[in-house]
Amino acid sequence: MSRFWSDIVHRLTPYVPGEQPKLAHPVKLNTNENPYPPSPRVVDAIRRELGETADALRRYPDPSARELRETVAAHHGIRAEQIFVGNGSDEVLAHVFQALLKHAHPILFPDITYSFYPTYARLYEVEYRTVALDEAFAIHLDEYAAPNGGVLFPNPNAPTGRALPLADIERLLERNTESVVVVDEAYVDFGAGSAIGLIDRYPNLLVVQTVSKARSLAGMRVGFAFGNAALIEALNRVKDSFNSYPLDRLAQAAATAAYKDDAWFRDSCDKVVASRERLSAELTALGFEVVPSAANFVFARHEGYDAATLATQLREKEIFVRHFKAPRIDQHLRISIGTDAECDALLNALRDILGGYVG
Ligand SMILES: Cc1ncc(COP(=O)(O)O)c(C=O)c1O
Repeated sequence: MSRFWSDIVHRLTPYVPGEQPKLAHPVKLNTNENPYPPSPRVVDAIRRELGETADALRRYPDPSARELRETVAAHHGIRAEQIFVGNGSDEVLAHVFQALLKHAHPILFPDITYSFYPTYARLYEVEYRTVALDEAFAIHLDEYAAPNGGVLFPNPNAPTGRALPLADIERLLERNTESVVVVDEAYVDFGAGSAIGLIDRYPNLLVVQTVSKARSLAGMRVGFAFGNAALIEALNRVKDSFNSYPLDRLAQAAATAAYKDDAWFRDSCDKVVASRERLSAELTALGFEVVPSAANFVFARHEGYDAATLATQLREKEIFVRHFKAPRIDQHLRISIGTDAECDALLNALRDILGGYVG
């Protein structure tokens, strides 16, 4: 604390990212990164961008990331003008709060969801109301069709992993026409249907995606928003009042190359999904209740074991999972899908910890 802090800084509760342990070989299942590397074309593209002398780095990058947007537009069958790019989808979401969600009515998002949403709401002084998930952690979008300044939810949701059918999203869009509906699709490629195909029909729909998960590029920080050109213009107005060059040259080259290797992306998603199904079944066999997941993580609890204690015991074995000290979910662990070897290490450690309890 300092008398030099602004009022808003005094009031902030910053988001706390998952731990990045400084160990040689941690089993890191705590931040939903992809266990597989990005396409080899990404490495080639970065090398090409650097060249022999890295001379290109003297110059600022393309502020509009034109080539990247055109590549991603071709991938989704939309126009580059319908795409906004930012420094990770976190930054995209931040601009969304400022550009599109600050209105007279409070915005609505689920009570159990990505914990950055309330953080941004406080930072940008956007009023919000949370809508409770049901007992099985499902979102009921009909409950969002009330006067609001905007609606925001991830599909699949985090940290639960549960996905909504596109038909539910479309039903909400038909009823909620006076404010922006933001669908955060950080995990969509692991098992949900994308709403990008609806942006031509609903001028108030904004879909947010990232290269951090399915394209294995969390380290490059690239995220997108897809929507009507007027929504994209609002985001560009905020971006150009904040930082004209959010994506550096290497990030633009890397993300563009990743979108040009569809086979690699599909293969990596398929492997993660297969491991998720196996891990879910094995955790269930160990006595865990596992929420059905369409993401690259599972959300699970064990009736006989305190989740925080389990996370600490796993940490002692250099296995990192995420535990949230939050109402309704403090007995759950969020476990990112690792390689098969990492999933096995987790399962063996759990067998060890649960000991005689599991026959
Ligand atoms: C639901 C959700 N949205 C957005 C993000 C942000 O992703 P990034 O900033 O890496 O693009 C995350 C990251 O974990 C997330 O879980």
